[in-house]
Amino acid sequence: MGPMHPLREFTEADLRHRTSVKWSQYPEDVLPLWIAEMDARPPAAVSEALGELVARGDAGYGVVGPYREAFAEFARRRWQWAVTDDAVIEVADVLTGLATAIRLVTEPGAAVVVNPPVYPPFYEVIEWAGRRVETAPLGRDGRLDLDRLDEVLAGLGPGAAHLLCSPHNPTGAVHTRDELEAVARISAERGARVVVDEIHAPLVPHGFVPYLAVRGSASAFVATSASKAFNLAGLKAGLLIAGADAVHELAAIPPVVTFGASQFGLVAQTAALTDGDAWLDAVVADLTENRRLLRELLDEHLPDVGWAGGDGCYLAWLDFGGLFGDDPAAPILERGRVALSSGLSFGPGGERHARLNYATTPELLERAVRGIARIRR
Ligand SMILES: Cc1ncc(COP(=O)(O)O)c(C=O)c1O
Repeated sequence: MGPMHPLREFTEADLRHRTSVKWSQYPEDVLPLWIAEMDARPPAAVSEALGELVARGDAGYGVVGPYREAFAEFARRRWQWAVTDDAVIEVADVLTGLATAIRLVTEPGAAVVVNPPVYPPFYEVIEWAGRRVETAPLGRDGRLDLDRLDEVLAGLGPGAAHLLCSPHNPTGAVHTRDELEAVARISAERGARVVVDEIHAPLVPHGFVPYLAVRGSASAFVATSASKAFNLAGLKAGLLIAGADAVHELAAIPPVVTFGASQFGLVAQTAALTDGDAWLDAVVADLTENRRLLRELLDEHLPDVGWAGGDGCYLAWLDFGGLFGDDPAAPILERGRVALSSGLSFGPGGERHARLNYATTPELLERAVRGIARIRR
């Protein structure tokens, strides 16, 4: 058997048969490079585990425990991060974990600071949790602006929270240990709590630092799951992890939250975390190659488009400058027949930008860039 290439397996015809949202939202002549699903089959261990469930008709309530143990092993193996069992609870998915953590660490109506441009559901999650959004935008380099963060938290006073995306969706910025320690220090000084979304972390090729492994982070919460890295978004299960000083707060979370993870999600994600390392390494290698290809295609066909090239997610945050107006995704869909995510939905700083999901085949990536470039003529 040759090396695995999870992102080289399907043709467009195969993908058009998919029923999940990425490939079913748009007409047949549109290439969908929008929502964060990969055009890959999950690891074989996942299919096998699910097949066994189906064969047994084993579709009852899931058992919690194995999933968090598998994650703790994974975190130790890949990041030398020790996660203790009493610090983790299962949740339906990462967004539920974030909403739960925000409710735990703030009072109703409190401010929650995000770093736009950022993953659009962050805004909704904060409002759904009954809190209000405040912003400390990223710097022009697409990385955290720590001075700005400090200024905003100082202005809000004690009782706020900071919802951090690590790595950052959409810029793909991988926060350094120094940056994360500064986040922890600033929040402690300003009386704010930190909640971190690490869903993309296993896909970072190198240099990922778990927030709870940095100095001063013990009062934080982290939400994560195997769903993004192993392409299991439809198999709902997530984890909420408390820092050492916050473990006691987990006791306040009721069963309506902890029973949210599904049997199929728990089993699938446990299998991926346990037996998916080789597949994950292969997908990370394919993504690295796609990133190189995308750079080459942009240089050739769209040299005026800016891309900082962050490698923390399979998402490219493209700056179209003056090419296609404030919302480039609109003409790109209409005339280029390529579906990107509109930059405007990511909040301030999203103007003139669009997000491209490059977790697809090289052929489709090339066709997409050519399609976008054609509308200039
Ligand atoms: C940063 C981030 N958080 C959360 C999610 C969604 O996670 P879940 O489906 O587990 O709620 C995504 C999905 O793309 C994401 O990019």
